[in-house]
Amino acid sequence: MEIIIASKNKGKIKEFKEMLEPKGYLVKSLLDFDEEVEIEETGKTFRENAYIKAKSIADKYHVMAIADDSGLEIDYLDGKPGVYSSRWLGEDTPYTIKNQEVLRLMDGINNRTCRYVCCIAIVQENKEAIIFEENVEGEIAMEANGNHGFGYDPIFYYPPLGKTMAEMKDEEKNAISHRGKAVRKLQEWLEHE
Ligand code: IMP
Repeated sequence: MEIIIASKNKGKIKEFKEMLEPKGYLVKSLLDFDEEVEIEETGKTFRENAYIKAKSIADKYHVMAIADDSGLEIDYLDGKPGVYSSRWLGEDTPYTIKNQEVLRLMDGINNRTCRYVCCIAIVQENKEAIIFEENVEGEIAMEANGNHGFGYDPIFYYPPLGKTMAEMKDEEKNAISHRGKAVRKLQEWLEHE
């Protein structure tokens, strides 16, 4: 069965493929379309954005569309960057710079709790949308470490394993991550469809 992931983020698409292709799904993404597909993320929550993305692809291509919206919430920064995680400081700004800025804002701050959140929306024509929301709790590290993963992973410290997300192997991250948990919910749902 073909699933279209309504995303152009290579890091995220890779994680979806790793988790869904072994189960026999043909995973495509917005990178596989010749035409430019631009979807405005106008929602104020991860849920709203996941729904907006999946709905626009389902309506346009008449397929089952799956979209995720995810991001980093830092408690001391009132949940920022949140739904603006990829746009924060500019969409094209390298994460080395974004991560250094987070570390600067958190300098001397003891309350470093944060979480990654992932919402996955499944939208099919003429059916009610389904949305799964999952998260993983962590702390903003004192310094950036590791070079796996993507985005904020080098500064996302995961206390139970004593390392950052960027120091984890792919399987390790997928086993505990917000996206890993939400994708497992999606897999269960797909199996019963
Ligand atoms: P989206 O593509 O609009 O859902 O934005 C997701 C953004 O949240 C990414 O571009 C990253 O900035 C951040 N993010 C979400 N999940 C992860 C992750 O697993 N690792 C690192 N950053 C993440």
